[in-house]
Amino acid sequence: QKPVTLTTLGKMRADGEKIVMLTGYDASFAALLERCGVDIILIGDSLGNVLQGQKSTLPVSMEHMVYHTECVVRGCTRPFIVSDMPFGSYHENREQAMRNAARLMAAGAQMVKLEGGEFMADTVRFLVERGVPVCAHIGLTPQSVNQLGGYRVQGRTDEGAARLMADATALEQAGAALMVMEMVPATVAAHVTRSLHSMATIGIGAGVDCDGQVLVLHDLIGVFPGHKARFAKNFMEGATSIDAAVTRYVDDVRSARFPAPEHCY
Ligand code: KIV
Ligand code: NA
Repeated sequence: QKPVTLTTLGKMRADGEKIVMLTGYDASFAALLERCGVDIILIGDSLGNVLQGQKSTLPVSMEHMVYHTECVVRGCTRPFIVSDMPFGSYHENREQAMRNAARLMAAGAQMVKLEGGEFMADTVRFLVERGVPVCAHIGLTPQSVNQLGGYRVQGRTDEGAARLMADATALEQAGAALMVMEMVPATVAAHVTRSLHSMATIGIGAGVDCDGQVLVLHDLIGVFPGHKARFAKNFMEGATSIDAAVTRYVDDVRSARFPAPEHCY
């Protein structure tokens, strides 16, 4: 199978074919995700929670992200590889963002993901113009948990929904090709998705009308002992293997059976 590229993803969006993203952190699971048909592997800074046992993603470092990106890249060839920029690695200025993005790209990432709305648009444009594809991330942005006052749904008020729309528009204009929306009312996420021209939306707790979906691998296979969010479906229930569970996730995203209303806000 041909490797997934930015062009592939743009075509999937245009054709209304759902994009399947899942986090992965090591070579063995990268191979498993590849054979189950996952389009994008995200080396998420959620590794702070699910691998390291941290209370938040804030302690994750560039060294951690580089290491896990290198591990994933050795395990697969087809999926598109996206790596999270960790807290503090892109916030100072766009030069710092480029320097750290370059480290992730050298480790094998094909795109970097960073959290933030309109205020990150300058940084996004700077990276994109220099050859670094960017995935934006709005709604609940876990690196801002201390500012947000907890892991809660974003964009519930008219004002909040308008904020998300303005953020999405600015990020698209800055050149972001993908945008994760996390814990956003399904109706708001659908409206944002419909309003965009080229940027594909990837939902997590953002309803079924996004262009694609993402989940944390450890939630999908039911091995994360911490708090279980409403959107975190355990696909091991009724499955006889991890391969079967991930394959069902892929099938359910492609056919828009996942997320179901009980996973949404
Ligand atoms: O770190 C992560 O796994 C993420 C996804 C949940 C979108 O950012
Ligand atoms: Na993340």
